[in-house]
Amino acid sequence: MAPVVAPNAADQQVEFAGKNTIYVMICGVVAASGGLMFGYDVGISGGVMSMDEFLEKFFPEVLLRRNRAKEDNYCKFDNHYLQLFTSSLYMSALLSSFVASKMCSSLGRKPTMRAASLFFLLGVLLNAFAVNLAMLITGRILFGIGVGLANHAVPLFLSEIALVKIRGALSILFQLNITVGILAANVVNYFMAEKHPWGWRASLGVAGVPACVLCIGSLFITETPTSLIEREKLDEGLAMLRKIRGVDKVDAEFDELVQASEQARRMKHPFRNLAKRRSRPQLVIAIAMQVFQQFTGINAIMFYAPMLFQSMGFKSNASLLSSLIIGALNVVCTDVCAALVDKVGRRALLLEACLQMLVSHVAIGVILATNLTATNELSRELSFAVVVLICLFISGFAWSWGPLGWLIPSEIFPLETRTAGYAFAVSSNMLFTFVIAQTFLSMMCRMRAGIFFFFAAWIVVMGLFAVFLLPETKGIPIDEMVDRVWKRHWYWKRFMDEDEAIGQA
Ligand code: BGC
Repeated sequence: MAPVVAPNAADQQVEFAGKNTIYVMICGVVAASGGLMFGYDVGISGGVMSMDEFLEKFFPEVLLRRNRAKEDNYCKFDNHYLQLFTSSLYMSALLSSFVASKMCSSLGRKPTMRAASLFFLLGVLLNAFAVNLAMLITGRILFGIGVGLANHAVPLFLSEIALVKIRGALSILFQLNITVGILAANVVNYFMAEKHPWGWRASLGVAGVPACVLCIGSLFITETPTSLIEREKLDEGLAMLRKIRGVDKVDAEFDELVQASEQARRMKHPFRNLAKRRSRPQLVIAIAMQVFQQFTGINAIMFYAPMLFQSMGFKSNASLLSSLIIGALNVVCTDVCAALVDKVGRRALLLEACLQMLVSHVAIGVILATNLTATNELSRELSFAVVVLICLFISGFAWSWGPLGWLIPSEIFPLETRTAGYAFAVSSNMLFTFVIAQTFLSMMCRMRAGIFFFFAAWIVVMGLFAVFLLPETKGIPIDEMVDRVWKRHWYWKRFMDEDEAIGQA
């Protein structure tokens, strides 16, 4: 038995018994397939949009423009409907993430994950068999509902079943699966681009595989003890805690969970609590992490890399191959984060990555500004340099803001605002993902190489935010954040006045 040492509010050591059971690992893997579905979707649209038959069927005018030699490099793909194909999913995900919060609290994390997988399956069917734009977009919207539900329930589920010492790594499983999903999409696109005329249908249809894994897997996995206790099923909660910790003596952890849940129950209105001054630090950080994550420009690359590369003069298969390399690097570097996050902490990774991403954006901006005009192509050497710089950017993002953008909001809220607060984080992520998806191709057409300097400026802002306003949360039990983090932070402590305390009876 490996006891987990979790310091309590007074900094005395409380031992929560438990070991890393196979059962927890299996639950983690199944739940994280929610991340696979999300990732597959992130990665699939750019490649599909670069396939001729897809464009011919749904966006013939874009195909014409892309094939015209004289067309402006930066504007070849500037089309609102094309962007809507990618972005519509995030708008519906935004709306469903609010329902997700209610579902998670009243029905539990597990049924929410199952519902997500059903929406995914429906969306996949409509997409793979689409005969017109309406069917295509409706499929994307259903897919989006699944994304909103899964992106809320899965990270919450993972952080609640994990032992404190591996909480960071287990939660990162979610992000890891997002990246594996993106890579899988890049691989499928690479091979399907050659399958005429149905390749795009297969690319969109393969998303059904992770949806089935989650759907079937969610019949077998556990509900979290926190969720059972929250819904007043104390005996089941205790039994479940014993099962996932693999030991009988779980009283200390159980008592803490019950206490936290009793405090939460007294709080009838989690969203109203979230509006209280005392929730300001967590709320600001959770939302800021999402805004910043998106304004690194990650999804400009994840969604539109094949088009970005084609704009620079790459041929179709070279651009899909470059996307594939980026996808693989994304997976590897997310592993680096999982290995390091509970050792070096969150802040070190975030700050190092800011530097790396800044260098990369500025250098790409300079190369494009000085070498890519409206109608020429980049030389082989410069194209290679751009791909290397994008790899530098991706690696930085993947071991920092990518995974930590999800991990930090899942661990900073106290129970009484946790689901509502996390809902805000997920919705902000979706909102800003929507913004990037809906505007990037048009922004590139208007700002040209300047778009990379725009993202670089955001990276400076987020670096400063991390330096001054983001406290370290490594190794701190979720239910002790208030005392050990917020009350001690130079700035955020002013929001912790006792008379406004929530859930601190
Ligand atoms: C972000 C996604 C992004 C992905 C790339 C995630 O953390 O939320 O928007 O596409 O990372 O790996």
